[in-house]
Amino acid sequence: MAVICLTSASGSPGVTTTSVGLAFCWPRPVLLVEADPTGGSGVLAGFMKGTTPYDAGLVELALSPLSTADALRDVVMPLSPNVSIVAGTRTHAQAAALRDMWEPLDAALRELEASGQDVIVDAGRLGLTGSPQQLLDSADATLLVTRADLPSISAARSWAETVRQPGSGWRHPGLLLIGEGQPYRDTEVSKVLGMPVVADLPDDPAAGAVYHRGANPPRHFETGPYVRGLQAAAQSVQAHVSRGRFALVEEARR
Ligand SMILES: Nc1ncnc2c1ncn2[C@@H]1O[C@H](COP(=O)(O)OP(=O)(O)OP(=O)(O)O)[C@@H](O)[C@H]1O
Ligand SMILES: [Mg+2]
Repeated sequence: MAVICLTSASGSPGVTTTSVGLAFCWPRPVLLVEADPTGGSGVLAGFMKGTTPYDAGLVELALSPLSTADALRDVVMPLSPNVSIVAGTRTHAQAAALRDMWEPLDAALRELEASGQDVIVDAGRLGLTGSPQQLLDSADATLLVTRADLPSISAARSWAETVRQPGSGWRHPGLLLIGEGQPYRDTEVSKVLGMPVVADLPDDPAAGAVYHRGANPPRHFETGPYVRGLQAAAQSVQAHVSRGRFALVEEARR
């Protein structure tokens, strides 16, 4: 149905953790793409605790003689009945080699729509060599993940200005705020960064550690505020995607 990209301006606010958490709370089948140019597969080493061998990923996809859509099928690894993953590069040095792959990958990911699968992309930090620019620009929702404190907002400010430029920036920008109210509120952050807060998540280190590094879930994890926050975030992101599509249709009609 949609391609959703998560990224950050600085400070490791929780992009990888939130991407994994959203994928496991997503109401439909979902493909998680590890497009962080930093490499090292944060998900296989983190949430999966190294239990799933790294057989193939983005590099094998880029090197395959097959079309990107066909090669994609070969590199996808299932993590659960609903969640599968395309692992990122093994090292940061490999990321630059993916430069020409983002455009065909974008097209191939859109074809997944026919199979009812959504895509969540962990795009890592903005501005790195090998950043998946094409995916960030054209996603149905591109979410700048930020904490609600001053250092995070200050670092996000110049990026927010760049990426919300009509015509040259992201098609559907938004914010995903972690730790709303600590100390700044949704409305304040949205006003400073000039983008809507599409979703927010509680600052919950113990629950976050489950999706970040496969830590043992704290008590009442499944029904607690963090997982409920992820479920609500999944709904809000889908609503943001629908609004964006509706706006495009309206624009085309005019
Ligand atoms: N909602 C949350 N509440 C509290 N801690 C969190 C939350 N989400 C993630 N974390 C913690 O924040 C730290 C960084 O998380 P993560 O690696 O996901 O960030 P990142 O933005 O992907 O960083 P990087 O840019 O280095 O890839 C981890 O210790 C993780 O457990
Ligand atoms: Mg990360």
